[in-house]
Amino acid sequence: MIINKALINGSKLINHSASPRLDVEVLLTKVLKISRSELIANTNKSISLFHLLLYFRLVFKRKLGYPVAYLTGHKEFYGREFFVTKHTLIPRPDTEILIAEALKIIQNNNINTIVDVGTGSGCIAVTLALETPQLKVYATDISRSALHTAQKNAKLYSLDSKVNFIHGDILNPILNILSPQTLIIANLPYLLPNEYKGEITFEPRGALISGQDGLKHYRELLKQLAQLPQEKRPNFLMIEIHPSTLNNLKDIISQIFLKNKVIITTDLSDRPRVLTLRLF
Ligand SMILES: C[S@@+](CC[C@H](N)C(=O)[O-])C[C@H]1O[C@@H](n2cnc3c(N)ncnc32)[C@H](O)[C@@H]1O
Repeated sequence: MIINKALINGSKLINHSASPRLDVEVLLTKVLKISRSELIANTNKSISLFHLLLYFRLVFKRKLGYPVAYLTGHKEFYGREFFVTKHTLIPRPDTEILIAEALKIIQNNNINTIVDVGTGSGCIAVTLALETPQLKVYATDISRSALHTAQKNAKLYSLDSKVNFIHGDILNPILNILSPQTLIIANLPYLLPNEYKGEITFEPRGALISGQDGLKHYRELLKQLAQLPQEKRPNFLMIEIHPSTLNNLKDIISQIFLKNKVIITTDLSDRPRVLTLRLF
């Protein structure tokens, strides 16, 4: 069978996908170990039976709902590839907004340390470490398996001695390193239980659901911040949020912190997505 026919037949099998043609192209490049541009330039070439079997095995898994990133083992984030496994959330384009906003805060303020809480694949910590080599970077996660992948990603970019990965619950494992010059950045779970359905159920529940109201993790993070003495409390916190919980989150913030300033950045669909909290 030639490449083009394999792509057409594969796309027909996964017509539930929002991007069937792209998905099968990515799966076939994985099997043939070539780039997408090479694939597209050689659509008339024939594929060996061995490669066809490997390819259709992946296509059938995709048909069952497996995300493409779990089938290929990697996902692009902020222009770089990151290893992902079933224990890590697949990095999302919306999270790149968090990076862009963090870089603005870092540029305009006296920040010397970044803490990425709930690092998952490590995409935020590794990206910020590469973009701001002058800063110290720490990353935490409650999942040891996710931390393992995050460390592998740091190694991929020769950052294994630069980013410190620490296991533990929210801020608990890094309380001793915090100061007003620390920027805390977090994309913690924020979905409601009834939103865990469809393709995202292939991703870890513990990376997505946050209590009954989607705010369990951020409520806890804010409480931990409030308990810090003034000389330890970071001046800035940046979090990725669920648009529908913004008002409840703002209420929690104003109940906990008398002095605060909230800045909201919207996502690619113009929904509130990043909340920056200034605490001085
Ligand atoms: C939404 S995922 C985000 C992963 C990654 N930061 C990203 O943007 O792709 C949330 C991450 O928080 C971690 N997590 C969940 N509960 C946690 C807790 N109590 N303390 C620290 N990390 C937690 C999960 O294991 C998961 O890796």
